[in-house]
Amino acid sequence: MTSTERIGQRAIDQGAALVTGAGTGIGAAITERLAAQGRDLVLVARDSVRLETAAERLRAEHRVDVLTVPLDLSRPDAPAHLAKHLKDAGVEIDILVNNAGAALVGPVGDIDPARIRELVDLNATAVAETTALFLPAMLARGRGAIVNIASTAAYAPAPYNAAYAASKAFVLSFTQALWHETRGTGVRVVAVSPGAIETPMNPGRARGKRQPEQVAETVMAALRGRAPAVVDGRAYVLQAFVFSRVLPSRTAARLTGNFFRRAAQSKQS
Ligand SMILES: NC(=O)c1ccc[n+]([C@@H]2O[C@H](COP(=O)([O-])OP(=O)(O)OC[C@H]3O[C@@H](n4cnc5c(N)ncnc54)[C@H](OP(=O)(O)O)[C@@H]3O)[C@@H](O)[C@H]2O)c1
Repeated sequence: MTSTERIGQRAIDQGAALVTGAGTGIGAAITERLAAQGRDLVLVARDSVRLETAAERLRAEHRVDVLTVPLDLSRPDAPAHLAKHLKDAGVEIDILVNNAGAALVGPVGDIDPARIRELVDLNATAVAETTALFLPAMLARGRGAIVNIASTAAYAPAPYNAAYAASKAFVLSFTQALWHETRGTGVRVVAVSPGAIETPMNPGRARGKRQPEQVAETVMAALRGRAPAVVDGRAYVLQAFVFSRVLPSRTAARLTGNFFRRAAQSKQS
């Protein structure tokens, strides 16, 4: 039996978990936690070698079946291709974690417009479309979970990180709305927003930075909880509250702008 056939077989009892952006950072930490619970996994990202290396390790350490699907989710046909591939293989998805994402720091006027489209296609469009593709089967089964990884950047406009923050605001709003739509259906929907996390997207240690494993812990707790949106880490809960509910948006934008302008300058130097 191949990995695909075994996952298809087991899905009858307990569907697999699909994690996008699964080869590194937060996605890798989430797959680790799901595998430790005995979940079969489908891992998606562009780098097939990295995905297969992660899959080998998860199979060996946790004795779960792991399928890898190398895919560029910013491409318009990618979510539909993924759903069809898994349907043809008989793989049922009970947990969907939309985690793949990318950032673009700098003034909008300096960024290639095509890169802004790519970012929005990956961070927002693919999240909404993938959710819409896998949700109906979960609703029909009366069970399932969708975790969309947003960001504390979703809670205020962010000059010099404008498209990223706006794409995450989309994820947060979309997920909160879907949480309401799915109440009482048996399908758990939640947005999880990390602050600064030490990953390939945000390398280097800094005060207040958290680790991917801590976000994975928050995701597992969010799956057990009932809230529509969860922020990872106490300091970031407070930050998100202050930036979205206390400060006037102009002040919030000035403060986030100062932070990301420095981040953009340090990237250049
Ligand atoms: N790190 C932070 O400070 C932070 C804070 C808040 C929110 N987040 C969010 O957390 C999520 C995970 O990020 P991370 O920090 O763990 O960074 P990361 O390690 O760079 O993870 C991003 C993942 O997305 C995949 N990916 C990127 N572009 C893709 C594409 N076009 N198609 C498919 N997969 C793609 C990458 O794999 P490939 O390159 O192989 O495709 C990678 O596995 C993102 O949504 C990010 O916005 C991160």
